[in-house]
Amino acid sequence: MKAVAVLPGKPNSVHLREIPEPRLTDQPHPHVCTIPEGRAVRVRALQVGVDATDREINEALYGNAPPGGDFLVIGHESFGQVVEVGDRVTELVPGDFVSCTVRRPGGSLFDLIGRNDVTSEETYYERGINLCHGFMTEYFVDDAEYMVKVPRELRHLGVLAEPASVCAKAIDQAYLAQQRLQVWEPKRAFVLGAGQIGLLATMMLKLRGLEVFTLATRPGPHLKSKIAEAYGATYVGTKQTSMADLVKQVGKPDLIFEATGNAEVCFRAMEVLAHNGALVWTSITGGQYDVTLDAAKINLEWVLGNKLLVSSVNGNRRHFEMGIQALSVGEHTYPGVTGRILTNRVAGLDRYQDIMPLLEDKESLKVYVNIAG
Ligand code: BGC
Ligand code: ZN
Repeated sequence: MKAVAVLPGKPNSVHLREIPEPRLTDQPHPHVCTIPEGRAVRVRALQVGVDATDREINEALYGNAPPGGDFLVIGHESFGQVVEVGDRVTELVPGDFVSCTVRRPGGSLFDLIGRNDVTSEETYYERGINLCHGFMTEYFVDDAEYMVKVPRELRHLGVLAEPASVCAKAIDQAYLAQQRLQVWEPKRAFVLGAGQIGLLATMMLKLRGLEVFTLATRPGPHLKSKIAEAYGATYVGTKQTSMADLVKQVGKPDLIFEATGNAEVCFRAMEVLAHNGALVWTSITGGQYDVTLDAAKINLEWVLGNKLLVSSVNGNRRHFEMGIQALSVGEHTYPGVTGRILTNRVAGLDRYQDIMPLLEDKESLKVYVNIAG
């Protein structure tokens, strides 16, 4: 069967290759974990989303092949349909729609209790990213433990399950951490960045009843500003209105969700957070970037204001479930809006060469490969 892969360490190596079609009895990542007897699920990939992570893997900034090989099948944002299940799988049947989690457990205590998303080991195993093959193929097999059901009515948004899990986790982490304050009731949120993560976070924060300002560089109107506004948020183009100006107009935010991929913005956000507020970092910023900040002022304000910085990466099955639920509630509350995030459909694995240029395009939100169905 066909698969889209890279040669980790070699820039611009994305290619199409032939790999064996997996059987239900195969172990997809025996170097990490084994599927217990009868618990395997075989899935036909329908759509696989791509994002900056795939672009950076193709640029050879990170990503590793599974041991014993030189290639890595990419694709960590899966959506597919179950075709076959082992005899000990009771929660899924052929025909069900699923998304599969990305991380597989290492050996830390966190991994042992099902929290591989917060492993304390330096090495992490992620399908399509690090040391495990991804989903950009025709069929894949994994443990039922890592498959999360997507309701049939939500299948048009199924490819957003993984990005939604990342947002749901990050917001949940902030709220969990803020229990330190006993009565935290955030009113105003700034979402920094209006890519797919920024927009899905905008929706989830609106669903929690917050007043949301979604900030990105380019002044609207354009698709991103229209989607943010359709969720009931206020879009702010920072070329016109800086974050500091916005604070003068509307006040400081209790919660900042950072999703820009810009290291300076991560730190500038520290200058505007309200007392008792939480700043959540979700983006990864590659390369090297020097920023000049008034560190003493930030230190003083952060200590006197009891402020919190939370970082969040990846999502386990609970976060996938929360993300899928938010997509469902969002679809009910803002019908048709989330689907507008699906901007670029690549028509099949054979068109793999279209993927990377689309990821460079500043206009695109969700780029995904339509594999079948
Ligand atoms: C993925 C996460 C992953 C992270 C780090 C993101 O693009 O969506 O699942 O944990 O990259 O590899
Ligand atoms: Zn991703």
